[in-house]
Amino acid sequence: MTQIIKINENDIKNQDIEKLKKCAESLKKGNLVIFPTETVYGIGASALDEKAAKKIFIAKGRPNDNPLIVHVSSIQMINDICYDINNIEQKIIDTFFPGPITLILKRKNIIPDYVTASLDTVGIRMPENKIAQKLIELANIPVAAPSANISGKPSGTLIDDIIDEFDTKVDYIIDGGISKIGVESTVVKVIDNVVNILRPGKISPEDFEKAGFLVKLDKNTFKSVETVEKVESPGMKYRHYAPKAKTILVESGNDIQKVKLIKEDLKKYNGKIAVMGFKEHEKYFKDINVEFLNIGSVNDLLEISKNIFTTLRKVDKDNIDICYIEGVEKKGIGIAIMNRLIRASGGNII
Ligand code: TXA
Ligand code: MG
Repeated sequence: MTQIIKINENDIKNQDIEKLKKCAESLKKGNLVIFPTETVYGIGASALDEKAAKKIFIAKGRPNDNPLIVHVSSIQMINDICYDINNIEQKIIDTFFPGPITLILKRKNIIPDYVTASLDTVGIRMPENKIAQKLIELANIPVAAPSANISGKPSGTLIDDIIDEFDTKVDYIIDGGISKIGVESTVVKVIDNVVNILRPGKISPEDFEKAGFLVKLDKNTFKSVETVEKVESPGMKYRHYAPKAKTILVESGNDIQKVKLIKEDLKKYNGKIAVMGFKEHEKYFKDINVEFLNIGSVNDLLEISKNIFTTLRKVDKDNIDICYIEGVEKKGIGIAIMNRLIRASGGNII
């Protein structure tokens, strides 16, 4: 039986702490707990317990060669599981932790091979979400947690989707409301003194530059899985986020040209057509037979990032055959949005 617990992150009461203690006990016993973070929900297990970690792979249908990241609530925990942290890595921790970022560090053997798919490194993330922090603190163990979604689906950001996919498979689901950021953390690894962004997220190359780091986007950032080259981050080689519909990402032209391009291109197709587009463009699609799915304002990339996975999931729920998606500018969190959309479209880009 899965128990669902609702907690308001901004008003954690004593009775909530009592419930979180039960979740923490469950983690310590080697069972699974789904918890909210500021990026997406995580499906967690003790990172010190190989059997517990295996349960995550089974529940998600995740390939064994895709390592889990490990969530911590203190600097002490990082030092317990990692070694040889250099100055640049330490500065990343000082600057961005807690926050929506995962830092790849050298792993001590206390973390079982199974958790990291036998890599000698481990991804460390200290979430900013107060519920996640409290849960890890109460369990007092590092918590391995990938995104809470069946492998290949968009990461879980809405509690209903999570219950659909994981009810009966985990001990507890903690409902902390819709995920604030909506795309997964920025995954970084320091290589030859340069911060390599293996997976883009809210913390952007600009943020690193402003803080005085040398930074580089991975060469596969804007490639579809069909064309990726040797990957630093195993997750980048898997097909991800794609709805069942034929999905077409519209990158060319300015705003209005995008609308024209979609209206022209969709004449080719029969079937149920959807457009995932900017709020400001809804009016241009009123005169034709398409379902318009509002992804947010063209001027608010954070709103779009929050909506992107829930909207991709809606495309499936509404049995769409053809789905056009309006692309965003590749700057700030727009880099992360485009990285996910290129994958969702399987390389169909116009
Ligand atoms: O925001 C997030 O990061 C969420 C929340 C729950 O914290 N978690 C998440 O986990 O997105 P996951 O497993 O879905 O994505 C982690 C990514 C994967 O692409 C994985 O391949 C990569 O990080 N990764 C994990 N360990 C790694 C390592 N040692 N070296 C390189 N890449 C690694
Ligand atoms: Mg994931």
